Amino acid sequence: MPSLLIRNIKTLVQAETNPRAVVRGAEMAELPVVHQAFLLLEDDRIAAFGPMENCPERADQVIDASGRLVFPSWCDSHTHIVFAATREEEFVARIQGLSYEEIARRGGGILNSALRLQQTSEDELFENAYKRLMEVVSYGTGAIEIKSGYGLTVESELKMLRVIRRLKAVSPIPIKATFLGAHAIPENYKNRRKEYVDLVVQKMLPQVAEEGLADYCDVFCDRGFFTVAETERILQAGWMYGLKPKIHANELDYSGGVQVGVANHAISVDHLEYTETAEIKSLLSGQTLPTLLPACAFFLGIPYAPARRMIDAGLPVVLATDYNPGSAPSGRMAFVVALACIKMKMLPEEAINAATLNGARAMELEKEYGSIAVGKKANLFISEPMASLAQMPYSFGSNLVETVILNGAVWNVAGGNKIG
Ligand code: NIG
Ligand code: FE
Repeated sequence: MPSLLIRNIKTLVQAETNPRAVVRGAEMAELPVVHQAFLLLEDDRIAAFGPMENCPERADQVIDASGRLVFPSWCDSHTHIVFAATREEEFVARIQGLSYEEIARRGGGILNSALRLQQTSEDELFENAYKRLMEVVSYGTGAIEIKSGYGLTVESELKMLRVIRRLKAVSPIPIKATFLGAHAIPENYKNRRKEYVDLVVQKMLPQVAEEGLADYCDVFCDRGFFTVAETERILQAGWMYGLKPKIHANELDYSGGVQVGVANHAISVDHLEYTETAEIKSLLSGQTLPTLLPACAFFLGIPYAPARRMIDAGLPVVLATDYNPGSAPSGRMAFVVALACIKMKMLPEEAINAATLNGARAMELEKEYGSIAVGKKANLFISEPMASLAQMPYSFGSNLVETVILNGAVWNVAGGNKIG
């Protein structure tokens, strides 16, 4: 069994002796750490950790991490990395004064991405998505969720999900697939919305389920997209096939999306830029996780979700990138953590909890990922030399990830999972 020993770690971050499933409210400010630590990996698992005085003598490979911090890999629970093309023309149109919603109403936005994706082959989509996956792995992401939703026809939604299946087969990190057929009403169904929802429920979902292509079911429940009633119908149909909901809600308005997600036992409701007392009360009444995507608020210039209020109310906040071509063209979890601190007043400890353990929970991967705990998968990264943990969000433009370790071995972009 190959072993890898990391010695002289300045601070081992999110090191749990008694692994927790999720952290909420005031607990979010507590991040368990060990200073002057060692970490032993055996095979693809974490075998032991502790203070240097207990460090084992030898291992097959030894890394000296003096001056460096070790973090569990980021867990990015919300992305759309399968897409055909970037959308800089909309970015420029927004600089010139158009809003995201106005662009969508004019046939841009998600419909623009759908058109491009329909014209792109499965192989090309796979190649491009694989590059994005490798990019985010190099930034320290060690578990990820990927959505469909730029297909919007039976054929193209299946094409996207098959791309995700191919990614799963070759990925060094775990991937969860989410079916998002209800991302937008296609142009040709504009005056026949019920027929589009019928298509999602009666044609797409059964095929997605039959081929086992998705782990979750998503709907964009918001002003100008899907209503609460439509969302509920799709989520309930998803449940019939064993697909748990994980939905987009309240990005553009108080849409009722949070409440319908909680009522339908969603794993998470994501975005939540429009959150008030009613939404917080609803979240407190159930198990659904609030997932915040501050890179989207940053990029679109919309309000940030009230993270502080949510945590102070006792909620378990999650952070994710939302990596997509329209509202968040970046997969850098470290930047999301920085935005959470700078713009939403989350403490560094809270943001790191939200981006690791709580992110794992939002993909139901918390037993294997999201923290440094004996028996968990050894997905982690060693930082550049750093002054303190708070430097991670403070140095918001720097890539402080020096060495990525996946499945117990040093990973490098060119060669995948190689020791050395
Ligand atoms: O999470 N809000 C809905 N979906 C994506 C954006 C999709 C797009 O603009 O392409 C999001 O922000
Ligand atoms: Fe999204």
